Amino acid sequence: MSPQKSDMSENNSHLPALISRSQIETRVTEIGREITDHFAGKELTVIGLLKGCFIFMADLVRAIHLPVHIDFMEISSYGDAQQSSGIIKIVKDLRHSIEDRHVLLVEDIVDTGLTLNHVMELLETRRPASLHIAALLVKEVKQELRYPVEFRGFDIEDHFVVGYGLDYRGYYRNLNYVAIVEAESQMKLF
Ligand code: PRP
Repeated sequence: MSPQKSDMSENNSHLPALISRSQIETRVTEIGREITDHFAGKELTVIGLLKGCFIFMADLVRAIHLPVHIDFMEISSYGDAQQSSGIIKIVKDLRHSIEDRHVLLVEDIVDTGLTLNHVMELLETRRPASLHIAALLVKEVKQELRYPVEFRGFDIEDHFVVGYGLDYRGYYRNLNYVAIVEAESQMKLF
């Protein structure tokens, strides 16, 4: 996707919108319908990868019309803050077993894909009935993900993005749209 001029005025004018709130709403509703159809007649365990997932997941589960259980996992990636190493440490593990459950793993963004590779490998060892991925944003470049993202919101170019759960140094997760950060100088805190 490319930045949209019509969205530039949304909330924080110094942060141009890549994806507007209304585009997100429309797409999340569509993905919810796809997931509802795909898992029709089944129960679903929806697992969010904290922290970035929390807003997308909150909207997505309300667009899924199936019996769902919710759980969360938080992991941290070794290495420097800008680039994930893909080697992960579990900070918060799931509360419940996923054995024989249909599992949907929810991510805000797939960048290199290294985080998901490790989390998927880990979850597979817990013998779920099925394991699928939903991600709001998937970067088109640097993809090393070995698993398909069956339910995806938007394919984006290699921008640094914030908002709708995604952060810059912990801030901006509460923007209600996805914005592009083009320069450090843009990052005045509201
Ligand atoms: C972000 C995002 C993904 C991961 C994607 O998490 O939420 O989990 O990076 O990167 P990758 O595809 O290159 O592995 P982050 O470590 O920033 O933590 P957060 O969710 O708490 O913001």
